Amino acid sequence: MQTVTTRKMLRTAVDELRAAGRTLALVPTMGALHEGHLSLVREAQTRADAVAVSIFVNPAQFGPNEDLDAYPRRMAEDSALLVAEGVDLLWAPTVDEMYPAGYATNISVSGVSEGLCGAARPGHFDGVATVVCKLFNQVRPDFALFGEKDWQQLAVIRAMARDLDLTQPSVECILGVPTVREADGLALSSRNQYLSQQERADAAALPQAMRDAIAALKAGSAVGATLAALEAHLLQAGFDSVDYAELADAVSLKPLETLGEGPMRLLVAARIGGTRLIDNMAV
Ligand code: PAF
Repeated sequence: MQTVTTRKMLRTAVDELRAAGRTLALVPTMGALHEGHLSLVREAQTRADAVAVSIFVNPAQFGPNEDLDAYPRRMAEDSALLVAEGVDLLWAPTVDEMYPAGYATNISVSGVSEGLCGAARPGHFDGVATVVCKLFNQVRPDFALFGEKDWQQLAVIRAMARDLDLTQPSVECILGVPTVREADGLALSSRNQYLSQQERADAAALPQAMRDAIAALKAGSAVGATLAALEAHLLQAGFDSVDYAELADAVSLKPLETLGEGPMRLLVAARIGGTRLIDNMAV
């Protein structure tokens, strides 16, 4: 695996791959890699001849009181994992390389970015859209892969690619990969490591409450009452607060008060201890 830390090195490495006639898939990450990220890498390897992974903890997507400083940084371990997976290229820029002095541009996607995590984390999706657009322009992959755990993020990135007429990758080649879960159902996340032993045990209530809610909806329970029961379940199980628990159209992310016709998603964000966990499931 070749590791590159400047845009110049990256360009040379990508040009070499392209000159050899290889197609390229990109897996953008913030590091602290786990099985969820590795599942993206494995899927990327089925899509393209070569795989690039980016590791960049993007300050622009963290709010002033969020965990930018505490966010785990483990470049040596991450790099070893990627070597073991047979990744071709690791793009690991510094903050100054990504946002040089004088940097002044921001991408803001309206609509899909506004509710859910967008409402709870102002500016977060502008930071995500901006850095992902930069990563796409830097690497120019044929495919890019993202975890479905960040369902709203995926919708924002697709909207950005569609609206800005991106071609590398095109919106059709931005692929979502299903969430990888622990044995008790908790979705893998780099933030799970913030949880104490007790919080980790209690956190299993999140996927359980969501599965219960989906079963209740399918059995005919009203949406409002089901979401209220879900919140009560989480608070009773040890969660401190629930940022949102919503049933939404899976594509537009518009909240639904009754069951819709098309694909629907149950999306939840809840806090336990100092940690904010998110999850979503198809309904
Ligand atoms: O999902 C993430 O890890 C980040 O939001 C991403 C897409 C790498 C952008 O910084």
